[in-house]
Amino acid sequence: MPVGEVYYPSEEVIKNANIKNWDELNERATKDYEGFWEEMANELDWFDKWQKVLDDSNKPFYKWFTGAKTNIVYNCLDRHIKTYRRNKLALIWEGEDGQLRTMSYFALHREVCKFANVLKSMGVNKGDRVTIYMGRIPELIIAMLASARIGAIHSVVYGGFSVESLAERIEDSDSKVLITADGAYQRGKIVPLKQIADEALQRCGTVEHVLVVKRTGQEINMESGRDMWYHELMNLPIATQNCAFEIMDAEDPLFILYTSGTTGKPKAILHTHGGYMVGVYTTLKYVFDIKEEDRYWCAADPGWITGHSYIVYGPLLNGATSFMYEGAPNFPYPNRWWQMIEKYGINILYTAPTAIRGLMRFGESWVKRHNLSSLRLLGTVGEPINPEAWKWYFKVVGNEKCPIMDTWWQTETGMFMITPTPSVPLKPGSGTRPFPGIEMDILDENGNSVKPNEEGYLVIKTPWPAMLRTVYKDPERYVNQYWSKYPGYYMTGDSARRDEDGYYWIIGRVDDVIKVSGYRLGTAEIESALVSHPAVAEAAAIGLPHDVKGNAIYTYVILKNGYEKSSALIEELRNHVAHEVGPIAKPESIEFVDSLPKTRSGKIMRRVLKARALGHDPGNISTMED
Ligand code: WTA
Repeated sequence: MPVGEVYYPSEEVIKNANIKNWDELNERATKDYEGFWEEMANELDWFDKWQKVLDDSNKPFYKWFTGAKTNIVYNCLDRHIKTYRRNKLALIWEGEDGQLRTMSYFALHREVCKFANVLKSMGVNKGDRVTIYMGRIPELIIAMLASARIGAIHSVVYGGFSVESLAERIEDSDSKVLITADGAYQRGKIVPLKQIADEALQRCGTVEHVLVVKRTGQEINMESGRDMWYHELMNLPIATQNCAFEIMDAEDPLFILYTSGTTGKPKAILHTHGGYMVGVYTTLKYVFDIKEEDRYWCAADPGWITGHSYIVYGPLLNGATSFMYEGAPNFPYPNRWWQMIEKYGINILYTAPTAIRGLMRFGESWVKRHNLSSLRLLGTVGEPINPEAWKWYFKVVGNEKCPIMDTWWQTETGMFMITPTPSVPLKPGSGTRPFPGIEMDILDENGNSVKPNEEGYLVIKTPWPAMLRTVYKDPERYVNQYWSKYPGYYMTGDSARRDEDGYYWIIGRVDDVIKVSGYRLGTAEIESALVSHPAVAEAAAIGLPHDVKGNAIYTYVILKNGYEKSSALIEELRNHVAHEVGPIAKPESIEFVDSLPKTRSGKIMRRVLKARALGHDPGNISTMED
């Protein structure tokens, strides 16, 4: 019997579960994980099968399904339109303004082929990078799939990022094409995406073509010779609905996605067609128990890994019907989400603790106005969920009948790593155990497994198919950051503990990454935005606990000579960060200081700042300079 507060699945849930006997599958997958993943790979289509499931001859540069040929888009679309799924809805979309669009698998395939032909006509070839910067609209999905269909590598930049973040990512990826929109609706206002893109393009010189989707309709600048409207291109004779897919090697890159790391600039994590496909297909199938009749809603943004794996690729690989919503959860009223769940009969809702806490604040009467009985499963991701939010989600939203899949994973892992499946007993705040076939551990400084309930570094001990293959253009960083602390093991950057039942409890990041409302930001990005302002000499950023956001950004700034401290300057600096990085990075507070705690080698000691802010003992400060 598991210890602590345990929630058992109902008979009904177990009856429907794709994994009925978790222990049995886990045992089989652990004994022979290559065999397990091979079996899963066989459920998908390949033009040529692999010579080897796992090639570990050049660790840690693992390869999966070597020699195999496929295309993930073929498996997402072409495979289904040969079957009854041709007429099935792939996507139901609601705009923040209430607009409704639906697309069958046939229609999505058509639009993707048309746009793939447009991209080809722009000279986009296999291996070229394409940057996509948009709000949550169907064209974002179409653009991703069209790129992948012709073997190009997409780099999606979250629409909440701003000028410098976008410029940096376009430049680093060396993209010739940028796909964007005139604007995006967010809480009734327009985010001027094209205007931000124009400003970003002045800072980087690689882009030759800008393709613009018309969404918000306001007047925008269109530079002749460079900028073109999506709808006009899609009406050209070259945009036919037949477009051969590129036959890809399993190890050919599918996308890069920038994420914040320990130091310096965001780095691009690289994922591939073959292994990534097998990993996301399998995990979504088993964790969210995808059924033919389901309507599944992952409320993340396609601009982050959750959206890549579990809005775009995972659901389409499973032939599922996905719902996507453009706007804010509480617009125009706090019942917006619940209204849409009722209206579209959503069966599975997958979101983040911050969204749950945000909606919880408005009270349960907003939820109770709606009939949410279609819901069958719930999910959470992005940061640890506090038991209070878990219980509210379980009781108020799920009416005590929907198990909550608390999925721990990362941009780098590509797929769920620690997660329950519906038939597993749950403990609020724990993601339970690693997915079958995944071996993990929690280690102390010396690399020994810690005792039950002790805190340590979370590591992954065996390779998995959707693992990152490298850091784009920086293989050294891939090795140093992930594989060098404990050779042979992948270092997650999280600390965790494991209880008597082997259940994992994530504590948080041990590096300079801050999770704000589930979004991943680096202290370095915020600090470099601050020092790019003429008044700032030095800056430090830390994350401190916040009731809704999980963490909020606190910053400390040393002004240059000649600048006066003032509340107006604080506002100016906060807005400057929002303009450079994005509104999500806007600091909660800016404090002017005369010095910052540093090591003798000049590194800012953020833990000392954090301890001071929380009124804790700063611990060992023997390496401090002053
Ligand atoms: C955190 C998001 C606790 C963790 C998919 C990880 C979580 C980082 C959970 C990766 C969870 C993600 N419980 N913490 N269920 N899921 N995290 O790359 O710190 O944006 O290292 O990927 O989010 O963030 P990323």
